[in-house]
Amino acid sequence: MENLIVDIDIMGMELPIEKGPILIGGAGNSRKLYIESYGCAMNFADSEIVISILQQEGFATTTDFALADVILLNTCSIREKAEQTIRTRLHQFNKAKKNKPALIVGVLGCMAERLKEKLLEEEKIVDLVVGPDAYRDLPNLVKTVDDGQKAVNTFLSREETYADISPVRLNSNGVSAFISIMRGCDNMCSFCVVPFTRGRERSRDPFSIVDEARSLFEQGYREVTLLGQNVDSYKWSPNTDLKGKLQIERSAETAIVSFAHLLARVAEIHSDLRIRFSTSHPKDITDDVLHTIKKYENICNYIHLPAQSGNSRILKLMNRTYTREWYINRVDAIRNILGEACGISSDMITGFCSETEEEHQDTLSLMDYVKFDFSYMFFYSERPGTLAHKKLDDNIPLAVKKRRLSEVIMKQKTLSHQRNIGDLNKVFKVLVEGPSKKSDEFLQGRNSANKMVVFPRHQLSKGQYVHVLVRECTSATLIGDIV
Ligand code: SAH
Ligand code: SF4
Ligand code: F3S
Repeated sequence: MENLIVDIDIMGMELPIEKGPILIGGAGNSRKLYIESYGCAMNFADSEIVISILQQEGFATTTDFALADVILLNTCSIREKAEQTIRTRLHQFNKAKKNKPALIVGVLGCMAERLKEKLLEEEKIVDLVVGPDAYRDLPNLVKTVDDGQKAVNTFLSREETYADISPVRLNSNGVSAFISIMRGCDNMCSFCVVPFTRGRERSRDPFSIVDEARSLFEQGYREVTLLGQNVDSYKWSPNTDLKGKLQIERSAETAIVSFAHLLARVAEIHSDLRIRFSTSHPKDITDDVLHTIKKYENICNYIHLPAQSGNSRILKLMNRTYTREWYINRVDAIRNILGEACGISSDMITGFCSETEEEHQDTLSLMDYVKFDFSYMFFYSERPGTLAHKKLDDNIPLAVKKRRLSEVIMKQKTLSHQRNIGDLNKVFKVLVEGPSKKSDEFLQGRNSANKMVVFPRHQLSKGQYVHVLVRECTSATLIGDIV
């Protein structure tokens, strides 16, 4: 993973995902593919599907873009800066193209979906533009480019879930893997571009999800993260699945499968397989889900529950469809059912349209109330085509947005440290992920609440569970000894 860089500002969803090249080594004389992924975990998971599709066509992957015949960028549009990063990268590839005219440069993902043909005109370097629901068409589109034309497919589907495609695990530590359980988003948060770039929400059939998780466990993986923009609205029934065939053959099941059911099914694969999930939406997270987490020891006690703001008027303008009081009620439910030890994290946006200083203070006071373990924090970036762009004035000066953001970041740092101090002298079950970043003498892994724990190496290897007594901490890490 040494090529990866943490860059919160281009991240989409909450996940502790590193931006930057997703690379795997290739072999043989076949055409070579180089792919880089940006944005949220869903994009990283999609790149694993893209590799799978193109490997079937005889492509090998390379970690060196100078050796590539096809360069693909899987892109993010969530904030303006994310798109700027991609544009800069495209210009870097322009040089490679000059030396190698047959080189194909393609843009995948959310920026492809948002800008469509415009990308071909704006960025003369680009040959191929493919939206998130059109990856099955990649082999044809590459052929079109081979024949000397540009190729675009940004068709958004109501049913595509790539359920039958086995992702090729990239940059994997062999311990943790992502599983997409749904695609798209039917919410219309006024600041957000995702409903436009990812299309309508649809849930993947539960059998293929459980099969994928079981197969990962059999390969030695010990942790899966179930991914969706709003996992709490996961819902599947044979009748609502438009593709249907596979499931009907495989099961006579007629009952609707909710997220709580799905969690339980994945948890039952094996008690040594940890389950994580992201993202939970405050309006949809049910007590049923919380009780399911409590029932299974291997479902992690960690909930990423983005608040965005602590003020009800701003939440209404954001079209989040909950109030501050509702959010607090959900946090109280988490504490009542799962206790203080459950990790809770958030996403926060500062300087949204018309936000006053008092309303910004409400965000800080909500943070104090919840004592988030962690947050991803951003200043508001207006996105073309969103409800906020059409209806609201982006009227908070950049300097004010940034100052409020720094206050939110300072607050979070203090809270993270306090929460970690609360973990001192406690023993946690940790899944070993590999050597610690700072020293080979130490290993690192996470506890159930998703906190990074560092401890002496001993004879342990990744994928094992150990119990660690925490003796020291920083705001980001717990440090301890195996007991
Ligand atoms: N589905 C998730 C969020 C996905 S986007 C949810 O509903 O919580 C990840 C995060 O990016 C959001 O939670 C939000 O905090 C941030 N974000 C989205 N659009 C943004 C914008 N226009 N400006 C700044 N941050 C934004
Ligand atoms: Fe965007 Fe809201 Fe959907 Fe999250 S729930 S992806 S913030 S529209
Ligand atoms: Fe993810 Fe960015 Fe798209 S956050 S869904 S890659 S806009």
